[in-house]
Amino acid sequence: MQALEWLENMPQQFKKMPVEVVELSPYRGIVFTGMGGSGIVGEITAMFLERRGVDIPTLVVKDYRLPPCVKEGWLVVAVSYSGNTEETLSAVEEAVRRGSTVVSVSSGGKLKNVALQYNLPHVDLPQGFAPRYALGYMLSAVLSLMGMGDISQKMGEHLASYSSVIKEKAKELAQRLKNYLPVVYATPLTGVCAVRYKAQINENAKTLCHTALLPELHHNEIVGLDNYLTRQMCHFLLLYDREDHPRILRRVQITRDILQEMGLVPIELEGEGESFEERLAYLIYLGDWLSYHLAVLYGFDPLPVKSIDRIKGMLS
Ligand code: F6R
Repeated sequence: MQALEWLENMPQQFKKMPVEVVELSPYRGIVFTGMGGSGIVGEITAMFLERRGVDIPTLVVKDYRLPPCVKEGWLVVAVSYSGNTEETLSAVEEAVRRGSTVVSVSSGGKLKNVALQYNLPHVDLPQGFAPRYALGYMLSAVLSLMGMGDISQKMGEHLASYSSVIKEKAKELAQRLKNYLPVVYATPLTGVCAVRYKAQINENAKTLCHTALLPELHHNEIVGLDNYLTRQMCHFLLLYDREDHPRILRRVQITRDILQEMGLVPIELEGEGESFEERLAYLIYLGDWLSYHLAVLYGFDPLPVKSIDRIKGMLS
């Protein structure tokens, strides 16, 4: 099966790419724009930049329009695996009109043509993948552009060394989640994993998935657990990282205790690895495998995303 082969080989995609590093200091801000499996690349990169102390604002835009602050002096990084996603193309056209600097990443498509037309730097990706299965290539391209190619490379090596552990664990998790609505609770440092888990469970396992983030979930979501439906329908994953704020880690414990009082046993997940980036890669790859195994348990082919294709067709 194609999806299985792509997933098996994903760690190799993270190899550092030989691209020209973009000097960030002259920019007033950075926008990452892209949708779905491509859009998450911007979310991960923005978080990595912030953690490295880059002190210019970073925004993630998943829309046709850019916010008004984005103009000349801003860097816009556009990622679309196919290169044909209309929201991303619209954001890029707007960035060009406003005089922002645009860098793009795709496996071809209209985005590459726009880059050629305006003479913009563009990174070409290998063709023929489903976008979400090319996460490693896209992340490596963007991290390499941002001067973090070595980090990408290390993430890939880490995944390769943990891949059999991850696969086994994911299989067991999928068995526990089957026949429940997966609910993923995450922290500020693992929020991007929750985004990926949801998307992968949606697209691969053709299943709804709910997510909520700490600390905000302690101000609303937590009350929603009172309904008996929670106990009947949901199974909880609780993602966190040891480098989360100490009060966040305390809130993770509180969340676990509240769920346990209700007779619910959340599955607590932290990535394995020395560095934060390695642990994040571990969690993401675990979620990818989990969604794959869930698809198999439900009898779905993980690959086709008919509804997404249908909507794209209806809009064309
Ligand atoms: C499909 C997938 C989708 C796409 C999204 C945007 O595998 O992951 O979420 O990523 O529809 O398309 P691209 O990535 O081509 O811009």
